[in-house]
Amino acid sequence: MTGLPFPRVRELSPAPAGLAGLPDQLGRVARDLRVSVTDRCNLRCRYCMPAEGLPWLAKPEMLTDDELVRVVGVFVRLGVRQVRLTGGEPLLRRSLVDVVRRIAELRPRPRIAMTTNGIGLDRLAQPLAAAGLDRVNVSLDTIDAEEFADLTRRDRLHDVEAGLKAASQAGLVPVKVNAVAMRGINDRSVAQLLQWCLDRGYELRFIEQMPLDAQHGWDASTMVSAAEVRERLAERFELTALPESDRGSAPAERFLVDGGPQTVGIIASVTAPFCAACDRTRLTADGQVRNCLFSQRETDLRGPLRDGADDDQLARLIQGEMWRKAPGHGIGSADFVQPDRPMSAIGG
Ligand code: 5AD
Ligand code: SF4
Repeated sequence: MTGLPFPRVRELSPAPAGLAGLPDQLGRVARDLRVSVTDRCNLRCRYCMPAEGLPWLAKPEMLTDDELVRVVGVFVRLGVRQVRLTGGEPLLRRSLVDVVRRIAELRPRPRIAMTTNGIGLDRLAQPLAAAGLDRVNVSLDTIDAEEFADLTRRDRLHDVEAGLKAASQAGLVPVKVNAVAMRGINDRSVAQLLQWCLDRGYELRFIEQMPLDAQHGWDASTMVSAAEVRERLAERFELTALPESDRGSAPAERFLVDGGPQTVGIIASVTAPFCAACDRTRLTADGQVRNCLFSQRETDLRGPLRDGADDDQLARLIQGEMWRKAPGHGIGSADFVQPDRPMSAIGG
């Protein structure tokens, strides 16, 4: 099995010789690596997966721990300063604590973050923090149990709450919560979610739903826009926009809530894309480098790795993939084509 039907790019890098780091042709430099450590998940969020799940990668298709840590090391040598572990659900990789420990041994030591749905974090927050994990983002779209079960197709809200609590206690702070609002499911409870997060000291950020679901069921009219989320929040809270200069390459527009100090972020990934400031690069669980969530191609590292490529050769392949990064994702334009892989296979 070769996993999902995605064209594999095996050509050699067209990037100019002697490149340093991970620049693209438009002057952006990648410093933030997202690593998908598994494509599996224990939830079935409607904006991501079909109810029956997906054809998961077979174990031999996935990078082993040694391969993964070696490739991350090459990225760090190329200037990556933050490694974010994602999935699928990263906590489902049994060796995750060990992987974190080994990434924390790289020099210069990258910051290590994780995006998780929180299930199992009650048990793993402490060992992960001890191994070197610095921060977590927990995906939680609603704290209404019925809405949660409707949106994720699983009755696991309590596990997520327990995971969040454990993350705070383990010092993985500030604990951030990522939420996607879906029309007709949780769009009316966004203010309730914000109040719940404020009460517990979690930093909430809303993300516009992007066309990344496996069924290709996205439609701009069902997406709840950043402007709409802001309006709904403003019915209950006073929001004061923080200056742009506080944003850097961070995509969230941030607001003080009721005068602060607590904030809420709203990420207009579709209606106001931040592609021009993007500093991200991605590694899939089966060893493909992607220069964008939405790119139509990727560069295979697993084949060359298993054929005996040395670190310099891997570095050239990674540089080649990043060099051809497109200016933007073009969602909404007539010729936009949704990537074949869903978010769970690419890594958020
Ligand atoms: N649009 C926006 N966000 C998504 N996520 C998963 N699929 C989508 C989508 N189609 C979110 C998850 C998680 C992060 C990895 O990305 O909820 O917070
Ligand atoms: Fe799992 Fe995250 Fe996809 Fe939900 S969005 S099904 S938690 S990978």
